[in-house]
Amino acid sequence: MKLWGGRFRKETDTLVNDFNSSIHIDERMVREDITGSMAHAAMLGDCGIISKEDVRQIIDGLKGILADVEAGKIELSAEAEDVHMNVESLLTERIGEAGKRLHTARSRNDQVAVDLRLHLKREIGEIITLILNFEKVLLRQARAHQSTVMPGYTHMQRAQPISFAQHLLAYAAMLCRDVTRLEDCRKRMDQSPLGCGALAGTTYPIDRWQTARELGFTAPTSNSLDGVSDRDYVIELLSALSLIMMHLSRFAEETILWCSWEFKFVELDDAYSTGSSIMPQKKNPDVAELVRGKTGRVYGDLMSLLATMKGLPLAYNKDMQEDKEPIFDAVDTVKLCLPVFAGMIDTMRVLPENMRRAAAVGFINATDCADYLVKKGMPFRDAHAVVGNLVYYCGEHKICLEDLSLNELKDHSPLFEEDVYEALKLEVCMDQRSSYGGPALAETTRQINEVESFIAARFN
Ligand code: ARG
Repeated sequence: MKLWGGRFRKETDTLVNDFNSSIHIDERMVREDITGSMAHAAMLGDCGIISKEDVRQIIDGLKGILADVEAGKIELSAEAEDVHMNVESLLTERIGEAGKRLHTARSRNDQVAVDLRLHLKREIGEIITLILNFEKVLLRQARAHQSTVMPGYTHMQRAQPISFAQHLLAYAAMLCRDVTRLEDCRKRMDQSPLGCGALAGTTYPIDRWQTARELGFTAPTSNSLDGVSDRDYVIELLSALSLIMMHLSRFAEETILWCSWEFKFVELDDAYSTGSSIMPQKKNPDVAELVRGKTGRVYGDLMSLLATMKGLPLAYNKDMQEDKEPIFDAVDTVKLCLPVFAGMIDTMRVLPENMRRAAAVGFINATDCADYLVKKGMPFRDAHAVVGNLVYYCGEHKICLEDLSLNELKDHSPLFEEDVYEALKLEVCMDQRSSYGGPALAETTRQINEVESFIAARFN
């Protein structure tokens, strides 16, 4: 019989039973469900709601179940609907009477909410570690390429010279924010809904602070209806995960471009590439493409739960059981993508000569040419026009700015002198960009140090 079967006179239809059951999804919270129950039972004992002997039996029983779960000895069943009732039924099967006292002053509504918060707090910690490991890879590559000149782009048009390190460090900065977003989200998630009951708390003299503390939360949630009915922390985590995927997908897209024959800025390692079943020459960036593709699925998870929660009246509604599939899928996807992406970036071969060659055409030193004239006294807007004309002239003659003779330059402005050629060198242009956050060596070193301390503060 169902744990809630008393008021029923018929068995649940088998279709309904399967439809209603969530065990194949929420079974992954079994550890949290057991620890949550242990804390609840201990509190019930300390508050004199059940006897100490019952507490002892319950805790021993739960420990046994946990050990069997860990040893893979337990099959959870759809008959018991969800992880909470599976654990409770097993416990009562094993210890009898005392097991039936566990659910005093508790509902599955606060139980599922506390399980999910515990579970997601743990997952956030694991995802943060994966991001930090990826950041270490970025730092290693950045350190090796602080002097590797590449074209920086806007509108996918060559724009100004940067270093490959500067480009990688942009992603490192995004990932640092992803980490702090997860930390913020975890902070807000860090309140225990246990003891909210079904929705309206309980008449028993429970101590919600005790269970909150015992389970590692900073406090109990303040309002019982809110505690059982809100899922904003799940949606917040889904949006933080969506942003991580958004960042990865942009990096993926660039990697795909970079290893194309049109760019050939990098070559992916054989171990991180795949071939074609028909075209013998192919070496494809499948990893990057899959990460780009999986981004859509995580966005879908976010949209799915936002839509599920829209307009739900307080407090708990069964609709909310649909929160787990999307959040677990998003967590799994991000945990799958981060290490494989990090491995791909770690093992890729950077081809500085090709970057340098691309940087040499496309007038990416044109801004520097204008800045040269400004330093000689010309207003920037006039200098912009002079260099615009020079670029047009070069285009007609199929040459670069630095190929112009001093006479040709002087025809456009008498301010040009011999030292312009030095000012137009790409390495000089890049290293002159020493403003805070720029690609100059000193600045990429500062950025590397900054990310390094960010990581160190978290691994301590
Ligand atoms: N399995 C449910 C969920 O995931 C928790 C059970 C609450 N169900 C109920 N009928 N009160 O949301």
